[in-house]
Amino acid sequence: MEKKKIVVLPGDGIGPEIMTAGLKVLEAASNKFDFKYELDYQPFGGAGIDEAGDPLPEQTVIAAKAADAILLSAIGGPKWDDCPRRPEKGLLEIRSALGLFANIRPTTVEDIQIDRSPLKADRVQGTDFVIVRELTSGAYFGEPRSLADDKAIDTIFYSRAEIERIMKIGFDMAVKRSNHVTIVDKSNVLATSKLWRQIAEEVAQSYPTVTVDYRYVDAMAMAIIADPKQFDVVITPNLFGDILSDEAAEITGSIGQIPSVSAGSAGVNLYEPIHGSAPDIAGQGIANPISMIKTVAMMLDQSFDRSDMAQAIITAVNQVIEDQVVTADMGGEFGTAAVTDKIIEFINGGTAQWEQRSL
Ligand code: NAD
Ligand code: IPM
Ligand code: MN
Repeated sequence: MEKKKIVVLPGDGIGPEIMTAGLKVLEAASNKFDFKYELDYQPFGGAGIDEAGDPLPEQTVIAAKAADAILLSAIGGPKWDDCPRRPEKGLLEIRSALGLFANIRPTTVEDIQIDRSPLKADRVQGTDFVIVRELTSGAYFGEPRSLADDKAIDTIFYSRAEIERIMKIGFDMAVKRSNHVTIVDKSNVLATSKLWRQIAEEVAQSYPTVTVDYRYVDAMAMAIIADPKQFDVVITPNLFGDILSDEAAEITGSIGQIPSVSAGSAGVNLYEPIHGSAPDIAGQGIANPISMIKTVAMMLDQSFDRSDMAQAIITAVNQVIEDQVVTADMGGEFGTAAVTDKIIEFINGGTAQWEQRSL
């Protein structure tokens, strides 16, 4: 069997800690299911600055382009906040360089997670939606941008082509899910949002089975808390998607359990938890590894067509959650390594209870 090439970007803060956890789980699942792969570690983010003088060294771009998939944990931290090219800049640039214009961030609340949600059980039960976040344009990339002492400029830009392609990704997903799309924008104020909504209406014509509704982003922030069950596929511009996905993560009980995939036209996908490098808990061995472990499962499923392995991993993750073998952010008292080892134990032992649950 051909070996899959996985580029590994451990990054900063808790990044290397949860990456170790994710790779241990990958190794265990691969041994059990006979999956062959090789890892190519590359400097990136703050680690890129320290090791190679830049948050996105040239060698990392070359390796990423040649990979079958990329695993990233998280980057950034106070140590590099004053660098002329911060770790965050490297993250934006790798997304752009690889054409990763669609970032998919799931919010699923399994019954076993309900007690950990800050929302009341009847509000949150059955929540299962994805945020489709446009990732390579909008406020993050528009020009001009400048910063001086007396004024600063950011620009929100969207082209028709950029909006059309992200809409198609979202509508196609809806057809495979529950045929419901929610378009998020600020079209009562912003020109880019007016175009966003207009193109959404046009694209919707080609998807007659899909119900479409439209929300201003401020009302959407409210609705995610008030009634999260109503959503299926949520399509948002870059900045709104960044904000709403952290909010959505919180209703599951912790952002430390949410994976994502960034995909585009070029073929190689980048898989990353949605959270950051959590400098406040870095180095203590208490970071929640579930986000990274679910990220590994997503990679196996979507880039390598190994839903059997992904399902085994998710089953084991659900089992540790049910058994309360979780980190402090989820109300538990276990460390990163203990949770990881328990997940591996469940993978090796196999459990029937959670089989066939959705990813
Ligand atoms: P953060 O997501 O790192 O942390 C927010 C809160 O969530 C913190 O209290 C943190 O302890 C907690 N948290 C996050 N992940 C956790 C996990 N796996 N287990 C337990 N708790 C977890 O956001 P922040 O503090 O605003 O940003 C910190 C740094 O990360 C900044 O430099 C920021 O730019 C960067 N960042 C990077 C990414 C990325 O690499 N994709 C994403 C967001 C933020
Ligand atoms: C994320 C992060 C990044 C973003 C930052 C670190 C550039 O918050 O991946 O959600 O805003 O996209
Ligand atoms: Mn974010």
